[in-house]
Amino acid sequence: MAAQQPEWPDERELKAALEELSALPPLVFAGEASRLRSALASVAEGKTFLLQAGDCAESFGDFSADAIRDKLKIVLQMAVVLTYAAGMPVLKVGRIAGQFAKPRTKNDETLGGVSLPSFRGHSVNDDTFDAEARRPDPARMVRSYHQSAATLNLIRAFTKGGFADINKLHTWNQEFVAASKQGRRYEQVAREIDRALRFMAACGIDLTEESELHEVDFYTSHEALLLGYEEALTRKDSLSGDYFDCSAHLLWIGERTRQLDGAHVEFLSGVKNPLAVKLGPSATPAEAIALADRLNPDNEPGRLSFITRMGAEKVGDALPPLVQEITDSGHNVVWICDPMHGNTISSGKGFKTRRFADILSEIKAFFAIHHESGTVPGGVHLELTHESVTECLGGAEEVLDGHLEHHYQALCDPRLNARQSLDLAFDLAEMLQTN
Ligand code: PEP
Ligand code: CO
Repeated sequence: MAAQQPEWPDERELKAALEELSALPPLVFAGEASRLRSALASVAEGKTFLLQAGDCAESFGDFSADAIRDKLKIVLQMAVVLTYAAGMPVLKVGRIAGQFAKPRTKNDETLGGVSLPSFRGHSVNDDTFDAEARRPDPARMVRSYHQSAATLNLIRAFTKGGFADINKLHTWNQEFVAASKQGRRYEQVAREIDRALRFMAACGIDLTEESELHEVDFYTSHEALLLGYEEALTRKDSLSGDYFDCSAHLLWIGERTRQLDGAHVEFLSGVKNPLAVKLGPSATPAEAIALADRLNPDNEPGRLSFITRMGAEKVGDALPPLVQEITDSGHNVVWICDPMHGNTISSGKGFKTRRFADILSEIKAFFAIHHESGTVPGGVHLELTHESVTECLGGAEEVLDGHLEHHYQALCDPRLNARQSLDLAFDLAEMLQTN
């Protein structure tokens, strides 16, 4: 039995949806997933920094060209800040174009004496608290495939068709960000880059020829939770004969589904995509080693990342033994810090939130621990949005407890807003500079 699967009420509906998905074209290609694996090998060596970011849960209700463009903008802005300050390439991976399924701690949610199935992401049911909306509907998986396809199509157009051109640097600063302190700091970086580009052009370098300045590689990722969906999108690569899960470039196994003898580990051990596993404070070094043996038996660089999500309080005790023993075992893994999921708290008024200070503190500890052990802090995994929401507390322009109710739009977990995200990028840039 696979963990965290919805109780689909109708077998025939489920079968029909999975058959439809199996016949649809792949969303990504094997060659792209393999390229991402090579890029992650460079992260493991400390030559590239990984920025993996996006919504906790994508929404059927928030789907437009403008939203996709603006989600891209904030990641591009953060990457520019990191690249410029740290002089390091940044590998960009979105929690996007497929992040529609959520694991839940409780199967049911009770409100005012009424119990209904928990919301499990828009590929399963709707977030509205009513019986019909909460009924798991397999046709939603087909809809999430189509939304992923359209999202990916726009991402490809934006990143390869001129929008991500380095000369467009200034246009990535959205209005409400541009007016803020972080926005102005970003403008300054952008002006310095303009000047450097003019200098190179004046030296006779033909910048129009350099595709790296005009296009960006942007990869997709999500939690591989609904095994039926993931299996239906798995295809045999005609060139290598290997199987790839063509629903996204990178798939990760969540904290709740990483059991060694579980169906998620079994399924993902059979596909060639780069993989990641979330490790919370209860993960033991022996478990991590066994996961690495199982998911990366050939110890291929870039194949396996561990996304540690310990929480600011526990990271100091929980992370060092994992890093130590994995390193001693000889496994080559990419270490990524998710400073979001171990730092979720409930606000005074009951909002699920996170403190910017805790997020920063876990990242700082992550860097310090890796420096201490001579291993590579490869990157960060963030939940953020381009919007001006008030879901996380703190940041340079303090979001306070009383502000949470103003623009709290999260479908699932609280996200950093665009200003807090840019703020964090400047902090990260400083940490990378002293690397
Ligand atoms: C998530 O990434 O949204 C999530 C549920 O994380 P975790 O598996 O680490 O709890
Ligand atoms: Co989340």
